[in-house]
Amino acid sequence: MPTAPAPSAGLGFQAIAGNRSDTVDVPPGYRAEAFLPWGTPLVNGASEFKDDASNTALDQARQIGSHHDGMHFFPIDVKDGGNSSTEGLLVMNHEYVDPETLHTRYAPQAPRPQQEVFKEMMAHGVSVAHILRNPDGQWQLVTGSPYNRRITASTPMQISGPVAGHDMLVTRYSPEGTSTRGTINNCSHGYTPWGTYLTCEENWAGSFINNDETPPREHQRYGVRRDHSRYYWETATPRSDETDRFNASSVAGTAAEDYRNEPNHFGWIVEIDPFDPASKPVKRSMLGRFAHEGIVFAPAVEGEPLVAYSGDDARFEYIYKFVSAKPYYQSTASGELLDDGTLYVARFNDDGTGTWLPLDSEHPDFKANALKAGVTFNSQADVLLNTRLAADVMGATKMDRPEWGAVHPTSKEVYFTLTNNTRRSELQTDAVNPRAENAHGHIVRWSEDQQQSATSFHWDIFLLGGEAGTHTANQRGEETTLTADNQFACPDGLWFDYGGRLWIQTDMSGALMQHGNFGNNMMLAADPSTGELKRFLVGPVDCEVTGVVTTPDSRTMFVNIQHPGESSPSGNFSSSWPTGNGARPRSSTVVITREDGGIIGG
Ligand code: FEO
Ligand code: CA
Ligand code: CA
Ligand code: CA
Repeated sequence: MPTAPAPSAGLGFQAIAGNRSDTVDVPPGYRAEAFLPWGTPLVNGASEFKDDASNTALDQARQIGSHHDGMHFFPIDVKDGGNSSTEGLLVMNHEYVDPETLHTRYAPQAPRPQQEVFKEMMAHGVSVAHILRNPDGQWQLVTGSPYNRRITASTPMQISGPVAGHDMLVTRYSPEGTSTRGTINNCSHGYTPWGTYLTCEENWAGSFINNDETPPREHQRYGVRRDHSRYYWETATPRSDETDRFNASSVAGTAAEDYRNEPNHFGWIVEIDPFDPASKPVKRSMLGRFAHEGIVFAPAVEGEPLVAYSGDDARFEYIYKFVSAKPYYQSTASGELLDDGTLYVARFNDDGTGTWLPLDSEHPDFKANALKAGVTFNSQADVLLNTRLAADVMGATKMDRPEWGAVHPTSKEVYFTLTNNTRRSELQTDAVNPRAENAHGHIVRWSEDQQQSATSFHWDIFLLGGEAGTHTANQRGEETTLTADNQFACPDGLWFDYGGRLWIQTDMSGALMQHGNFGNNMMLAADPSTGELKRFLVGPVDCEVTGVVTTPDSRTMFVNIQHPGESSPSGNFSSSWPTGNGARPRSSTVVITREDGGIIGG
């Protein structure tokens, strides 16, 4: 992976004003162009995108998916130690669908037409796109490249780690409980030091129902529904095994005859080798099961354990840390490192210290806490299947919706967005979640005590979101007061570029954008070494800005624009970005370059 230039950071661009226009706006001297929008033909045999949304499920399975989210650029030569900034694999998540946009006509009621459900399943997942920069500076898709690949809600996958083969994973599809089909609700992502991509399953629980009298804790604690799923996939007609599996009720005699355990195949982090198009993605169960927003690795150090962080994006859920059992060696590192280790959950003490609490069925503290709580876990697999419950038992700190994390390339400090939590009452506030009815969110920061794998840390609040005048005084004695140039709310995407600039992306609700002074969702850049913070990009109407990465030379940036015109009634969309002129809105990547070819943000 690219090595970081010395983090001089510095924000050399002119901050732009917030606005409500249906465009992507960037500072003077910068260019922003839509690239790889939803429906772009990707895989051999793909059809052209049709603006009336009449593309079929099969078309969609070969086109770029919808709701672009987390994304990474892998230099084409990275496995040979190279660092190309002109050719690579752009790998991105497709989080979900707005059925009103995806279909020509949509009726949110049961039963759903099977072909519509299949199209929605094919629009989820991941795209691997082989891209290159022409001599004229334009980026293009390498059509016909064997690397181009779609991973969908149907792609066969393996399950690895402690939970693989557990009784609670047995289904009609996998009597062994070791394989599964597909990944859904792929929000943020991660990338490993050995050049693989990780996609994270966030709001998967809403795709399932279980109408048994007493659904198991593996379903209840995650919000598997009782009546109907988000898109009524379980009602697809004519019926098929592909869609019946979204009904996790006990309908047969044994787990091997029905899909009562299907929801237990979701909520994981999935490893994909983008350089091996025939490879089977692997769900790495050691990383825990929850509404995984994303995963971020601390810089790998030869001979030391590998450390990664992942947030559970729901109100009052937790932040987790994984420490590998085996040390990292560049020469032999692989996904197996993620199959064995310790998963911890964070407790943020009010005095600015913090503790990582082990979720380990053999650990004396864990055993004592479980006994005290009257909760039984029969194995480490049971702990991981019920990660949220295990974290409850350990008394972890309930956070204001943990979204993305980012690790500074040299200081190794960890930053995490806490997007909002309007349900926190005054009585429920604490030092790390200090605001009741937290509508604007904040960013927390910590450094591990001594080494990255330590079980204690020190934290402070880096930044509070809010309107101009919002003041943050962090524990280093630095103060920030937001102005018109950087007021923001609901931080979500977060990424340190190779020069140590922190990019912050927002996901405000429609109401906040309509009634607040923020304008549309945006991306800002921060220089933690100086406290500078400037608005860099404003997205189109009713979009969320999410997913950011640059080429190793920091001269091309890719940003994702998700769901412009979100949930508008069919035929009356609030956005027509990126095509304009009343066309159907499409989630899309944006390529950002500087007219002088310089460093983005510098
Ligand atoms: Fe999919 Fe938590 O954002
Ligand atoms: Ca997000
Ligand atoms: Ca969000
Ligand atoms: Ca979203």
